[in-house]
Amino acid sequence: MSDSAVTITITPNGPYKVEGSVDLRDAEGTPIETREDRPFFLCRCGFSTNKPFCDGTHNREEWSPALADG
Ligand code: FES
Repeated sequence: MSDSAVTITITPNGPYKVEGSVDLRDAEGTPIETREDRPFFLCRCGFSTNKPFCDGTHNREEWSPALADG
């Protein structure tokens, strides 16, 4: 794997962990700032109040990762 590779890991019962240099943008194409060289977590449950990022709410809400995974 090269240094520029992006790795997205589906965490058990939680968010998507994103590692690597990523150009993250919203629906209008506006860049969303991420912490450079540090992994970040994208909400997978839909309950975060800080979308697209996970804020830990998935731990307090009932949701099924099986539904999120299709
Ligand atoms: S996955 Fe953590 S708040 Fe949605």
